Amino acid sequence: MPEAPIEVRLSTAADLPALIARESNPSAHFSQSQFDLMSDGGYYYAIALRDGEPLGTGALDCRASKLCPELKNLWVYPAMRRQGAARAITTFLEAQAAAQGFVEVFLRVDPDNEAAIPMYIGLEYTPTGDHIETAYDQIGADGQVEARVQVDAVYRKSLTVR
Ligand SMILES: CC(C)(COP(=O)(O)OP(=O)(O)OC[C@H]1O[C@@H](n2cnc3c(N)ncnc32)[C@H](O)[C@@H]1OP(=O)(O)O)[C@@H](O)C(=O)NCCC(=O)NCCS
Repeated sequence: MPEAPIEVRLSTAADLPALIARESNPSAHFSQSQFDLMSDGGYYYAIALRDGEPLGTGALDCRASKLCPELKNLWVYPAMRRQGAARAITTFLEAQAAAQGFVEVFLRVDPDNEAAIPMYIGLEYTPTGDHIETAYDQIGADGQVEARVQVDAVYRKSLTVR
């Protein structure tokens, strides 16, 4: 039987139990906080599913004064990778940006991210040459959360070039 297509849409409260069950660090309440950001406007938290099963999530943040709008927090569950979920989420969030009247989308990425960078290049993102220090929490194998700072490269895509 052919594989069911990937569906991408904005997440709903009904998705939260499945998303929370898949969190590697439940005490960070990541899915709930991403979902809650949508209620203030300018934030879009998308979910990709196949046959009703979550494959991953990503967000578009239209609230910042720079790098606006920014694609962020793209995460596909390890067992669900290389099926096109990240590409589908990114394309969906670009459409959200265009619907809001934006003509470009930004993102930041670790220059050593060997999975994400080919995907962004394939979707016609290009490095701007700028770099940004980004603080994040790294969860060790022992579950300990460690604050890290990483220098990310900024990428941009025009939504108007055909
Ligand atoms: C990066 C990530 C989001 C990709 O998710 P994915 O659903 O596996 O990606 P897709 O299946 O949509 O792949 C799209 C394209 O990206 C590239 N790609 C994806 N994973 C790759 C890998 N491990 N190595 C090389 N290229 C890769 C390929 O060009 C791929 O197209 P193809 O499968 O037709 O060759 C996923 O690996 C992930 O969640 N990583 C951890 C979090 C992260 O790095 N997020 C991005 C932060 S900026």
